[in-house]
Amino acid sequence: MFTLKKNKNPILAITWLLLMLISTSFGVATAKSTIEPCNSSDSCNAMLGYTLYTDLKVSEVAALFQIDPVALLSANAIDVSYPDVENHILPSRLFLKIPITCSCVDGIRKSVSTHYKTRPSDTLASISDSVYAGLVSAAQLQEANANVVSDPSVLDVGLSLLVPLPCACFNGTDNTLPAVYLSYVVKMEDSLSMIAARYQTTVTDLMNVNAMGSPAISAGDIIEVPLSACASDFPRYSSDYGLIVPNGSYAITSSHCVQCSCGPGSRKLYCMPSSLAVSCSSMQCKNSNLMIGNITSQQTSAGCNVTSCSYNGYVNGTISTSLITTLQPKCSGPQLFPPLIAPPSSVTDDPMFSPAPAPQSAGGVPTNPGTIPSTGSLPNFAPANTPSGLTNDASMLMSSLSGISVLTLIFVSA
Ligand SMILES: *[C@@H]1O[C@H](CO)[C@@H](O)[C@H](O)[C@H]1NC(C)=O
Ligand SMILES: *[C@@H]1O[C@H](CO)[C@@H](O)[C@H](O)[C@H]1NC(C)=O
Ligand SMILES: *[C@@H]1O[C@H](CO)[C@@H](O)[C@H](O)[C@H]1NC(C)=O
Ligand SMILES: *[C@@H]1O[C@H](CO)[C@@H](O)[C@H](O)[C@H]1NC(C)=O
Ligand SMILES: *[C@@H]1O[C@H](CO)[C@@H](O)[C@H](O)[C@H]1NC(C)=O
Ligand SMILES: *[C@@H]1O[C@H](CO)[C@@H](O)[C@H](O)[C@H]1NC(C)=O
Repeated sequence: MFTLKKNKNPILAITWLLLMLISTSFGVATAKSTIEPCNSSDSCNAMLGYTLYTDLKVSEVAALFQIDPVALLSANAIDVSYPDVENHILPSRLFLKIPITCSCVDGIRKSVSTHYKTRPSDTLASISDSVYAGLVSAAQLQEANANVVSDPSVLDVGLSLLVPLPCACFNGTDNTLPAVYLSYVVKMEDSLSMIAARYQTTVTDLMNVNAMGSPAISAGDIIEVPLSACASDFPRYSSDYGLIVPNGSYAITSSHCVQCSCGPGSRKLYCMPSSLAVSCSSMQCKNSNLMIGNITSQQTSAGCNVTSCSYNGYVNGTISTSLITTLQPKCSGPQLFPPLIAPPSSVTDDPMFSPAPAPQSAGGVPTNPGTIPSTGSLPNFAPANTPSGLTNDASMLMSSLSGISVLTLIFVSA
């Protein structure tokens, strides 16, 4: 077992554990996967990197993981108000982020809220390799279902199998900055530097997070990829306490009334009424005419007087708001958000082959959060909407990420 040098807490010690993946059809293969020990009953928001094995409706993908279709769409920045979006057919080989709750079970982090109902001609290997795209091994399925699967070579139809899925919390931080962890199944053509470039991190950071001694990876390995995120500070008694949203994704909360995301160039979670908001409790801040997400700013001699009405968690079935006034040195431009996309209908190019998205120089065209690009492209979250005139750690990091010089980047250290 290796202990992470960058983290002082032993809870973050992880092992790059050897797992035997015993596949009946392909003989014996070994794959590595990252395990996070834990010893508390808390849970966190996490993501699975999932590649569709066949064409499936949005609602079918959601059912496969027993998640809310709206949460699936939001996590992939797909416009939830697109007509009949739940019946939209997503193409085979599409890569999706699946939002899951990561729990602590028997001393390790995993997600245990997914069950699969067996169908004719299913085998443990086909459920593992195809249906869940390598996120679970046949051996793990067998172990988790020892009580219902007596003979793994013949699966009865209609069995409900527990599908344990990999996840990590790592305290919701990476190098002390908020992060959500994506469990990523390594593909044949992947290298660690390609994965780092695609997720705007570094090889060094991926090696630290996964306690790897070398950057070598093989197809089928499962690594944890930190996604830069924005964290909420809702009070502990709110039902969405601890909400954390990766940059480029949305989260839907407060019974579909509120949607939250990072505002580009900011690590603050920004929430506003969702397009699905129908029968919601008041979203107006007390003693003001502002609604959740409204921000007014006024240049005064002392600086910029910014008043915002913020979402403050879902408390007892009520949307909690707070009116905040701050004095900032300068008034900044309008808020910009990850663009919503139409649900993809084709897989045009493999995102793993595309270069790191090049950040746009200052003066990018502001995008309306409701804009749907005419092409049904993959949710690639290219930073096409970098705000102008905002400087902070994140945007400076982004500018130094231009080109593919990711390997030489020195990461913000703890
Ligand atoms: C865990 O995260 C909190 C903030 O979310 C931070 O204050 C604390 O230092 C982190 N702990 C470790 C061990 O990184
Ligand atoms: C378990 O929790 C205790 C106290 O919270 C902590 O001191 C200990 O290091 C934890 N153990 C592991 C294996 O994380
Ligand atoms: C306040 O927010 C609501 C809902 O997002 C929006 O329709 C309205 O235009 C905003 N008003 C101002 C003054 O920004
Ligand atoms: C800032 O604006 C708020 C509301 O518009 C107002 O009540 C407050 O007095 C202003 N503060 C300053 C310092 O101008
Ligand atoms: C929520 O409701 C319960 C009872 O309905 C009450 O005891 C509790 O104080 C409420 N919590 C908050 C934060 O209002
Ligand atoms: C979020 O992503 C956008 C586009 O990739 C980038 O411009 C921005 O700096 C990122 N923000 C954070 C907080 O990482």
